[in-house]
Amino acid sequence: MSENTTKPASNCSAVVGLQWGDEGKGKIVDILAAEHDAVVRYNGGANAGHSVVVKGERFSLHLIPSGILYPSKIAVIGNGVVLDPDKLLEEIDGLRARGVDTGGLVISDRAHVVMPYHKAEDAAREDALKRVRIAQAGETGRKVSEIGTTRRGIGPAYAEKAHRAGAVRVGDLLHAETLRDKIEIAIATKMDLIRDLAGSGDAIESQKVMDWALGAGEAIAPMVRDTTYLLNNLVKAGKKVLFESANGTLLDVDHGTYPFVTASSCSIAGIGIGTGVPVQRVGRVIGVMKAYSTRVGAGPLPTELAGPGPDGAIGDRIRNRGREFGTTTGRPRRVGWLDLTAVKYSAMINGTTGIALTMLDVLAGFDTIRVCTGYADGTKVSDRFLPDAAALANAKPHYVDLPGFSEEIGAARSRNELPKQARAYVEFIEQQVGLPVEILSVGPDRAQTMIQV
Ligand code: GDP
Ligand code: IMO
Ligand code: MG
Repeated sequence: MSENTTKPASNCSAVVGLQWGDEGKGKIVDILAAEHDAVVRYNGGANAGHSVVVKGERFSLHLIPSGILYPSKIAVIGNGVVLDPDKLLEEIDGLRARGVDTGGLVISDRAHVVMPYHKAEDAAREDALKRVRIAQAGETGRKVSEIGTTRRGIGPAYAEKAHRAGAVRVGDLLHAETLRDKIEIAIATKMDLIRDLAGSGDAIESQKVMDWALGAGEAIAPMVRDTTYLLNNLVKAGKKVLFESANGTLLDVDHGTYPFVTASSCSIAGIGIGTGVPVQRVGRVIGVMKAYSTRVGAGPLPTELAGPGPDGAIGDRIRNRGREFGTTTGRPRRVGWLDLTAVKYSAMINGTTGIALTMLDVLAGFDTIRVCTGYADGTKVSDRFLPDAAALANAKPHYVDLPGFSEEIGAARSRNELPKQARAYVEFIEQQVGLPVEILSVGPDRAQTMIQV
């Protein structure tokens, strides 16, 4: 066998979001982690908020892979993640205080570090965009808006990675000389810009940043490894590896609703970039989708249910039943009917092999459930998604109305126990997307899950 020959591809699986994030990836990863040896985050940073509920106890994970709740698993933060050391240490402390063993956590020495000035830049850019929006309000045709980022420094950290010279990687935190050079370069190249954008602000002192960075390096040093070799060796040894996406395919920097996206590759293409494991090793790709749509931050959401009328009331009901408030920022999530045009596009981008459908329980109590199956253009309906935000903003959803169900379904443990209208809704999704629903979730708890592989 040649050096690069591995055991069958099906040893690796991926969990990706098929919508705008918050599809329930954390819950699905936690379920699937039971049958894997390692769980790996490959993109994003502390913008993610993945919730796992076990026997009524809720865990919110931002940087740590959702497999951490099983003591025997390896949990890897890959090189494609942008790491905020403060958030990581806070998260580790929080888990340990609740009795979770975090001994399996490993961090790539090549993950980029979110520095304090990245967060300042993220906030300053958003505030500047807001000022432009306000100044241009009322001018027809002007569509400037802030992105609505999480202000966690994600975009500026990835931009620094592309700029190269001043970018600090986790491994650099352990080498004072290199670290000092990089911090000085970064501050020299961006401080004027941040001050200009913010319109005020004190200079960032490099010594303060240096002290902070050295402290962070010391704290995380025992977890730092070359995770590319670690993971490829695990795959070669036939171990089962699960890749956990952050954010969602429609927030992918290339394939999402640009420019209202995040700054990383959230689709499975990000696995090769963000871990060094070739994506063709991934045999099973589970696309997670909720039974309706949500989005946090700005950008088009064609099926949005908002405003003072009946649509807004439906949106409020879904938001409250689904606890649709951000895990990371607490912002209320925008809510809409399911957009299957968007989901089909994401399923295509990811080579999805099966669906995990979440939040079906949230839709109980509606006489009719609407599903968008295309966008109307005059008398024609197109089933082509429009990933450009300006084009998508003009899309008019074409709806199919399906009968709703009145019973609560949180206690159902097999499809047969669902009301027939709920079953028909699931079958409609399977038929439209052309993929089986392999996991069906009817509540946040680990136990509220049906697995039909
Ligand atoms: P992620 O970012 O994709 O991991 O999703 P989040 O954790 O940010 O948001 C999903 C929310 O829905 C969390 O509060 C979960 O606990 C919850 N959740 C997951 N699956 C279900 C489900 O089937 N029904 C209900 N009602 N809540 C769910
Ligand atoms: P999880 O992993 C939902 C959104 C932000 C904003 C845009 C850019 O929990 O599904 P950023 O801070 O990344 O530059 O913000 O992307 N966003 C998310 N929305 N879930 C997420 O992660 C998100 N991560 C980023 O709200 O609109
Ligand atoms: Mg989330």
